Amino acid sequence: MDSEVKEKIASSWNSHAKEYDLQYAHGLKSSREEEEWKRALEKIIGADRKKVLDVGTGTGFIAILLAEMGHVVKGVDISEGMMEEARTKAEGKNLSIRFEYGDAENLGEPDDAYDVVINRHLLWTLQYPEKAVREWIRVLKPGGKLVVIDGDWFYTKPSYFLSVFLGKLLVALTEFRNPWNNKSDYDRTLKKKLPMIRSKNARNAVSLVEKCGLKNIRATGLEEVERAEKSAMPLKQKLLNPHKRMVIEGVKP
Ligand SMILES: C[S@@+](CC[C@H](N)C(=O)[O-])C[C@H]1O[C@@H](n2cnc3c(N)ncnc32)[C@H](O)[C@@H]1O
Repeated sequence: MDSEVKEKIASSWNSHAKEYDLQYAHGLKSSREEEEWKRALEKIIGADRKKVLDVGTGTGFIAILLAEMGHVVKGVDISEGMMEEARTKAEGKNLSIRFEYGDAENLGEPDDAYDVVINRHLLWTLQYPEKAVREWIRVLKPGGKLVVIDGDWFYTKPSYFLSVFLGKLLVALTEFRNPWNNKSDYDRTLKKKLPMIRSKNARNAVSLVEKCGLKNIRATGLEEVERAEKSAMPLKQKLLNPHKRMVIEGVKP
């Protein structure tokens, strides 16, 4: 049942919420990385104050950066555990961001309400990505921008495969643990229900957004952010994280 899938997903994120920001390629590891993210976000959504919805906000990575940049931000997620972390961080920085329960596929937000709807690392974990994209467009004002940031995490390029294998080997040899037994990963039955994982090709995300009726669609990389991220990573993390992110943006007609 769909609600069981959602509960399984929420419960998985609840149980890993405390470690999420500590992981490389998730939480910020350097001020250079933070600067590059802000530079990239400003290029995408502009510097003037926007009303933004961060869907699948998690521990508030994007929501907090955007609020620090002066935007008015609300973050929604199905994992209360992840949003607890987000609330604590926002309070610590004196930022007023609303974090509320919200399902990406059925937001419960009014039509035409936001200048920007954004998400990072969410699309891959949705059961109905097309339904979700249409829902994000519904809550955008005409002329508003959808920004989807995701990665080719499941794309099995031989060089990625080799890199991750070597990274895991290094983890096994230096940390004396079995990195092939990844407890934070979704189980096989759950993965089968998530089409972006099943198709193993993040490039499907571009055609998905295209068919939902946005205009001026652009897909770009995040090279500077990734360079900054990699420079803060020890070798084994560099090997474990060969994947590339993609930013897909489009405007609601
Ligand atoms: C990989 S994390 C990304 C978190 C955050 N956006 C970031 O960039 O760090 C995926 C997040 O998506 C959330 N999520 C999964 N399915 C969702 C859904 N249907 N609606 C809203 N959030 C969802 C999870 O709870 C989790 O917090």
